[in-house]
This record gives sequence, C-alpha cells and structure tokens, in this order.
Amino acid sequence: MVNTENASGRQTSRHSTFVALGRSKPAESRFCLAALLLLALLVSGCGGIAPPSADEQTGPSSGGGVTEPLGQNAGNASGEGETRSDEEGGEGALTTPDMPQTEGDGAEVGEANEEDFPIEVTYFTPAQTEGPYYPVSKPEDRDSDLYLLEGAPARPAGTILAFDGSLYDGGGMPVPGAVIEIWQTDNNGAYLHPADSASSRRDVNFQSYGESVTDENGRYSFRTILPAAYERRPRHIHVKVKSGGEELLTTQFYFSNDAEASRDRIFAGAGADVEALIMEVREGVDFEGNQALTGRRDIVLRSAITE
Ligand SMILES: [Fe+2]
Repeated sequence: MVNTENASGRQTSRHSTFVALGRSKPAESRFCLAALLLLALLVSGCGGIAPPSADEQTGPSSGGGVTEPLGQNAGNASGEGETRSDEEGGEGALTTPDMPQTEGDGAEVGEANEEDFPIEVTYFTPAQTEGPYYPVSKPEDRDSDLYLLEGAPARPAGTILAFDGSLYDGGGMPVPGAVIEIWQTDNNGAYLHPADSASSRRDVNFQSYGESVTDENGRYSFRTILPAAYERRPRHIHVKVKSGGEELLTTQFYFSNDAEASRDRIFAGAGADVEALIMEVREGVDFEGNQALTGRRDIVLRSAITE
C-alpha cells in the first residue's frame, strides 16, 4: 500500500476517478453507480454504523469507562471519608481529654453544683516541697483570717487577698473536716520562722500562718495578704492538707500573670501539672468591703478517701 500510494499511479488513479465522476461516459456512469450502491450495501451490511453505536451504548451502559471510575471514586471517597472520619474522630478523642485539662487549668472544678457530687476529676493537685519555713511555733491566733491578728496594734501592710476553694478526693467527692494550713511571707518577704534571715523586718501585725477547716462540701477560705517574693522565689503560698492527723498533701500556690514564677525551679518542677497550682486573682472586695484581690483554688487529692 505504501509503495502503491507512493507510486505515481496513485495520483493517476485519483485523477481518473475525478474524471470518471465528472466526465465519464454513460456506461461508465452506470458502472460507477452500481459500484457505489454495492459499496453502500457493503458498508451497511458490515454494520459500519453499528460498531460506533454499540460503542456509544456499550460505553455508558457497560460502565467499563464510567462505572469503574465511579466505583473507584466511590471506593476512594468512601474509604477516604471513613479514614478522614476516623482520623477526625481520633483527633477528637485526643482533644476530649485536653479539654478537661484546660478546664482544670482554671481552678473551676467547684463551679459545678455543690450538691452534684462526685465532680468530674480533671486533674490532681501536685505536691511541692515544704521548704524550710514551716513554723516551728505556730501563732496563738491561727484561724483562717491572717489579715486580722488578734492583739495586733494594726492591720498588716500589703494587698489583701481573699481566696477560697474546695477539697476533693481522687474520686471527686468533697473532703469535709480536713485542715488546710497555709504559711507565707508578709509584705516584707519575711516568714514567721527563726531561721529566716528576714525575720528582723517581719511585720508583727501579720498572722503569717493560718488554718481553715473544710465544711461538708469540702469548702475552705482564707483572708490574707498577697505574699511578697523573696530571694529567688516568686510570690507563693505554702499549703498543707491534713485529715485525721494525717498529712495528705504538701504543696504551694502561685498566682496568675506572675512573670517571676516561670523562672522558679520549684514552680517549673511541677511540669504541666503546675497549672493546678496557679490561682487566678482579680480585683474585688473582702467580706468587710475592703478592696482586695480575690481568687479560687480547688485542691484535688490523688488518693480516694473512703469512709
Ligand atoms: Fe516559701
């Protein structure tokens, strides 16, 4: 065919055909017409149109070209969808535990109805070192109002801090009758302790140490002053929890928005759990109407107390 097409005869043949259609004699015309009719019949008989038709029908109906991709797409879509869903579900499952931690960060455990016990336990209060200044001789006045020292000639210097919270056991139940002890520096950064080199400048009007007994809902409360930072330590309040003469927890409370705290190694030693030691404070008034900082810090013991 190639040789033929490349041969000069090809051009001659085309030329001849052109001539025959245009200038052929009647006998030649009849022959050509018959040939055309035969060609038409052959074309029709071979189903020259049918294959395309069949192809057109086969394509969409067979699904060979469409169904499979749909199937693949559907499969992929379904698979990816389920996978995404699973992944999202997985992420959600990871997010869920984070949320209680976030809630726990804010010391808002006690926001739940006090009658609705047990509460959902979202964190445990970490322990911290007792430090060297736990009082060796506790003041005669050791109530929960450290701002008002019985027999003192005046009120202590410093910013009043009124805070409260609830004590829960590891099962989320309130712990009534427990003793919460706090001890801290006064406005001069001095402890009530003979070993404290700053004791010479201690504010004698400040109680320095106090106790609050939890009520039936585990609630405790204190009025004190904002402790001063000393040496390398940021503002903090030492806390000890006792029940039935047994020490349940010794720790320290810090304050929100205290840039010094993050540089403290004891603070940092609590790791992520330190959030459970930070007290959010805001402007408010104490029970006497004095301008004060107010805060809340719940305590959740790791152990469950069963009685
Ligand atoms: Fe301290």
